[in-house]
Amino acid sequence: MDERFRLDKLLSMAGMTRSEARRAIASGRAQVAGQVVRDAAARVAIAEVRLDGRPLEVEVDLYLMVNKPAGVVTATEDARFPTVVGLLPERLRRRGLGPVGRLDRDVGGLVLLTTDGVLAHRLISPRWKAEKVYFARCEGRLGDGDVRAFAEGVPLGDFVAKPARLEIVEASDSGSAARAALTEGKFHQVKRMFAAVGHPLESLFRERIGCVSIDPGLAPGEYRPLTPKEVEGLRALVGLSEE
Ligand code: URA
Repeated sequence: MDERFRLDKLLSMAGMTRSEARRAIASGRAQVAGQVVRDAAARVAIAEVRLDGRPLEVEVDLYLMVNKPAGVVTATEDARFPTVVGLLPERLRRRGLGPVGRLDRDVGGLVLLTTDGVLAHRLISPRWKAEKVYFARCEGRLGDGDVRAFAEGVPLGDFVAKPARLEIVEASDSGSAARAALTEGKFHQVKRMFAAVGHPLESLFRERIGCVSIDPGLAPGEYRPLTPKEVEGLRALVGLSEE
């Protein structure tokens, strides 16, 4: 694997804080390909770095997006249904990847899988307000009243949904399509919100989480690693930016 990282980031992935890593680098403890390197921003591959003469033991986190098909459960294991983790090749299934939140079995679209538990937790915590965007098809004609109801917060019996953005894409008496953007994700929440305003859902597809949109090149059931830019964007969104 010859992916390159900032030297100080690599040392922090091996267990140091960023400031410990910078001090270690400044004091000449890090070598890259046999040479002392004092530039914390140097971009290096794991295999060529030594600290105090010893190779680094680095656990590199994995970040993937999956286009989950309906019928697949958002879980690592399930006795009855195929799982999102089961869509991956064996070498990735062994890496301890977990889903960031859940989609219902009958809902398709973007699922993020990662080994980075802190990022996963923050992306689903309402505290960090990471927006999730869904494309919905529903019964009946959506109108301005529904947009206002979403913006005000739809009462759902046991709680009132946080204000959400509804953008109508098509509206007719025989059915409508819309995008809904939410910053929370309680059980069946989008289905319950549409049902509560009188438009039960016919289908639901998640398009985006924070700054990461589903890759239009991914067919249902396919996955790809997130790009470094996508990972940094998600981390920055939830206060984990490295810089
Ligand atoms: N809202 C739902 O109702 N279902 C999902 O899977 C996601 C959001």
